[in-house]
Amino acid sequence: MDLKVKIGNQILPNPVGVASGTFGYGEEYGELIDLSKLGAIYTKAVTVLPREGNRLPRLTETPNGMINSIGLANSGVEGFLKNKVPFLNTIKSCKNIVNVAGSTEDEYVKVVEMIDHVESVWGYEINISCPNVKCGGLAFGTDPIQVERLTRVIKSKTKKPVIMKLTPNVTDITTVATACEIGGADAVSCINTVMGMKIDIHKKQPAIYQKTGGLSGPAIKPVGVAAVYRVSKKITIPVVGLGGIMNAEDAIEYFLAGASAIQVGTANFINPNAPLDILDGIKDYMKENNLNKISDFHGFID
Ligand SMILES: Cc1cc2nc3c(=O)[nH]c(=O)nc-3n(C[C@H](O)[C@H](O)[C@H](O)COP(=O)(O)O)c2cc1C
Repeated sequence: MDLKVKIGNQILPNPVGVASGTFGYGEEYGELIDLSKLGAIYTKAVTVLPREGNRLPRLTETPNGMINSIGLANSGVEGFLKNKVPFLNTIKSCKNIVNVAGSTEDEYVKVVEMIDHVESVWGYEINISCPNVKCGGLAFGTDPIQVERLTRVIKSKTKKPVIMKLTPNVTDITTVATACEIGGADAVSCINTVMGMKIDIHKKQPAIYQKTGGLSGPAIKPVGVAAVYRVSKKITIPVVGLGGIMNAEDAIEYFLAGASAIQVGTANFINPNAPLDILDGIKDYMKENNLNKISDFHGFID
């Protein structure tokens, strides 16, 4: 069985990664799970300058999911290089993919330029889809012309794989995915969180300070599967699927929908070993169904 996944001119050892913002920078989970067995760690977002993130409360549970409005809290690119890269340098086999966010094109480019010399960074996931920051992020992710230009500029600054992370909060996600492909992206990942809101009826106030936030977890899985299905029919570069993957069955749905790799997000908060349990379940299913490689999942569904 061959679990390798090719993205651009590079290879992931297996298709199971951990989603940005749900796994810190790897170190936080190092004692809980054998990181070397993961396909990829997609880091928490890195921005040019440190960000405190949004005011509390910024997390709340919902039926079958949670809403967050963390707001890209991180220690900035210099803090990342100084404090997070030394641990990432120790990770073997599993690939480190840095999630990059910004408010302007220049900010995205600066982060990539400052990180690109780090050998243990395998590639980038460009977050053009965060619903929790006022300018930038989501504004980029909803405009195909800006997305194409941003993709092209970032690709001109690095030889490492560039994965554009799409938002489901658009009229037609395939239009934005196509812009990524035209701009030269090596892959797209979908989906980021779905805009959501919860109101505390006793306080008669929103449950989080920002009022609306990003819904994640099982509640959004059908949205993610549909996005992956539609996007993978439209473009030829690999699609990384995520959104509500809690177990191997969920991951298999994503592969059948057209994903070449997947990410586990909210599930990590419940079971830190979920990604490796999911990897084992994928292998079992492949054995039982005589599937030898991930691309064998594709083609069952028209
Ligand atoms: C607490 C939290 C923080 C997140 N931070 C980021 C982030 O910094 N960058 C990003 O691209 N996505 C971020 N996400 C989105 C996840 O990577 C993922 O796209 C989303 O949660 C859907 O997957 P899931 O349902 O498996 O969690 C965050 C999600 C959560 C729950």
